[in-house]
Amino acid sequence: MQIQENISLQPYNSFGIGAKARKFASFKSTEELSAFLTTESKLPLLVLGGGSNILFTKDFDGLVLKNEIKGIKKIDEDDEFVYVQSGSGENWHQFVLLCIENNWAGVENLALIPGCVGASPMQNIGAYGVELKDVFHELKAFHRKEKTNYTFSLNDCDFGYRESIFKRKYKDEFVITSVTFRLRKQPIFNTSYGAIEQELERLTISELSIKAVAEAVINIRSSKLPDPKEIGNAGSFFKNPEINNEQFLILQKEFPGIIGHTLPSGNIKLAAGWLIEQCGWKGYRKGDAGCHAKQALVLVNYGNAKGDEIYNLSEAIFQSVKKKFGVMLEREVNIV
Ligand code: FAD
Ligand code: EPU
Repeated sequence: MQIQENISLQPYNSFGIGAKARKFASFKSTEELSAFLTTESKLPLLVLGGGSNILFTKDFDGLVLKNEIKGIKKIDEDDEFVYVQSGSGENWHQFVLLCIENNWAGVENLALIPGCVGASPMQNIGAYGVELKDVFHELKAFHRKEKTNYTFSLNDCDFGYRESIFKRKYKDEFVITSVTFRLRKQPIFNTSYGAIEQELERLTISELSIKAVAEAVINIRSSKLPDPKEIGNAGSFFKNPEINNEQFLILQKEFPGIIGHTLPSGNIKLAAGWLIEQCGWKGYRKGDAGCHAKQALVLVNYGNAKGDEIYNLSEAIFQSVKKKFGVMLEREVNIV
């Protein structure tokens, strides 16, 4: 329950930005969290998980609370599912590995996503054909002002593509303290996305398993996404933008190579990485701020970039995509 002052946030964000926090502490339970919210109620507050979806553009003049709520347990089961509750401060990838070890299926396609379990509902994390909402049962969240616990069911969370009620209507109102997952006893494999099938073939897997799917996903991810331990980044900096079919056909006439896939609504989701690459940004570097050479959607810090240098680069990318394609990108990363 110790509060430190004037602390560098560099070890606590995957971009490796050296912003400072006026105050910094960690909490291991809802009770500790509640105590901080009471004693430090006048200060601006930022709850931090793994810091892998955040860009600090300035020092944080308030209290940064690092989430350390741990504990994973099976709380229920029926014929088809196990219900597994995880403390929100658990590491996401370790949670996925534990599920695989126990043969609890559903999160294997989400292997190797950095960060904590508690942030996973924030933007409904997704990868390789699966989103958090597909395995979500409920979560518990602590109201910052009322100091009471709430339970949110799947319907309550308003999940969408990289969206939830916690990013919009309830922004900065709740701290997620635990998440309960509904995982399958018998897996339903999801291998149709991207290069999973090819990677499984390359691995010469004799029998398909959730472990094999995770291994394929891990290999594909490692081949194109920079490891934050080596190059600072926060994954995709922008979302893949959605346009209607009419707009898509007009763009396709002018840019026949444009990549998009049709959504159930009939709208088209464009590959933002392709748009950015076409504007010439892929592999671009100015100082220590850059656009990753293998994935243009990922902005990187090669060492000592300042948060505002990364932000300014994102703004230049935004403007050039708007100019060339008339498409407005939306940032996925949380800007502080
Ligand atoms: P943080 O960065 O610590 O926090 C993110 C936001 O959530 C902040 O606004 C924070 O205040 C808030 N928050 C955090 N915890 C809580 C809590 N308990 N209660 C309330 N608010 C909270 N994302 C994907 O969806 N798919 C991917 O494939 C993917 N790949 C990535 C690859 C790399 C290399 C990197 C670096 C990132 C990637 N991401 C991906 C983004 C990131 O991993 C996820 O968004 C992850 O869920 C962030 O978790 P975190 O604990 O690091 O969140
Ligand atoms: N592409 C390019 N140039 C690039 C990058 C991508 O042309 O520089 C093309 C690819 O060739 C491919 C398409 O764009 O045809 C999509 O690329 P990819 O499969 O790499 O996925 P993405 O759409 O760029 C999304 C998520 C990732 C997630 C992967 C896999 C978003 C914003 N990003 O990336 O999530 O891991 O799919 O499912 O939806 C994250 O959110 O941080 C993240 C990494």
